[in-house]
Amino acid sequence: MEQTNKQDEPTGVFTGFRTAFKSFATDAIHVGQEPEQWSSMAVVPLISLSTTFKQHSPGNHAGFEYSRSGNPTRNCLEKAVAALDGAKYSLAFASGLAATVTITHMLKGGDGIVCMDDVYGGTNRYFKRIAAEIGLDVTFADFTKLELLKSALKPNTKLVWMECPTNPMMKVVDIRACSELVHEHNKDIVVVVDNTFMSAYFQRPLALGADVCMYSATKYMNGHSDVVMGLVSINREDLHERLKFLQNALGGVPSPFDCYLCNRGLKTLHLRMEQHFKNALAAARFLEANTRVERVIYPGLPSHPQYEVMKRQCTGCPGMIAFYIKGKLEHANTFLSSLKMFAVAESLGGYESLAEHPAIMTHASVSENERAVLGISDTLIRLSVGLEDEADIIEDLDQALKAALHFERVEVGQGLTY
Ligand SMILES: Cc1ncc(COP(=O)(O)O)c(C=O)c1O
Repeated sequence: MEQTNKQDEPTGVFTGFRTAFKSFATDAIHVGQEPEQWSSMAVVPLISLSTTFKQHSPGNHAGFEYSRSGNPTRNCLEKAVAALDGAKYSLAFASGLAATVTITHMLKGGDGIVCMDDVYGGTNRYFKRIAAEIGLDVTFADFTKLELLKSALKPNTKLVWMECPTNPMMKVVDIRACSELVHEHNKDIVVVVDNTFMSAYFQRPLALGADVCMYSATKYMNGHSDVVMGLVSINREDLHERLKFLQNALGGVPSPFDCYLCNRGLKTLHLRMEQHFKNALAAARFLEANTRVERVIYPGLPSHPQYEVMKRQCTGCPGMIAFYIKGKLEHANTFLSSLKMFAVAESLGGYESLAEHPAIMTHASVSENERAVLGISDTLIRLSVGLEDEADIIEDLDQALKAALHFERVEVGQGLTY
């Protein structure tokens, strides 16, 4: 099966959202996986552990020299990911952050980066505390307001970085409008979308005008919480050439075994994402109707401020929910420590349900002031809704919210103020 640029055609699963990308499941299962590439005709790609490859004579080889520069198992994964992103090329990295660092190495001292104000804490930390320290000019803006993005662009801007939805506030950016605006300002600026939260199944940033689509594949793309990896998809030849050079020259590549696992995870991506959406939608509706909850931020709910953008640019919505529990830090803590099935843990996008406290956990590296501006308060909780039975997910949330209520009663009973 050849790699194609298949775009969306009618096979929609969720009413109101864009229709699913044509032949997505078929491509996930077959592209890059051809048995003919192995002399054994193995249907399942081999894990090629060799670090080096025999050459017929110096410089005359069968396509592989050294495993950092290229590896047969990594090749299978990269081809599959490119097909799923509707891209010509994909490159795999040792982690999402290794992908971010490699992309940023396309810049030189004095160049500018404009980054969405709400991004993964590690991305924020890398741009602010490392990239800025070595001479890159980093600024942040809220891209949900196009005028703020426009005024942040400068003559030295070379890279525009966004997440959609953002982590953890679930802000949704209009990728097409942002990409057009940036490219009108200067067509050479590289627009990067961190597509980690959506996966290739729900959103194709390249088709919306972005130049680079990147992932922490540690999350939905692998989907089984057992691999740390990054992925980057591109169409532009010049960017591919540069990033492929940097992948080898900087060396942040994944192991063949991890490539095998991620490649395997992709085979069920479409099934997993549909179930994540169904379970998360049910959980978000339950939370929104619960009196112990102040506010739910889920882009699949009509109450989300960018719900219309979401429906226009995505084929569905992942398992990520942010919500504010009523009360204060102690209520959030009691809720989290009362969960029985949800594990209190960082990360997201695996088959298992996880819950976390962004201010203390994933976004502790973001300054207190910034957290206050963004809304990452003591009562904000982030859920990664997994693939368990819907009723069990809701039952667990329900009993933990009741425990938080019980905590409040005990506190009041002890004469403390609520
Ligand atoms: C949205 C997003 N981008 C990037 C990363 C970094 O990826 P990794 O942990 O694979 O380095 C994360 C990690 O949580 C993330 O959530």
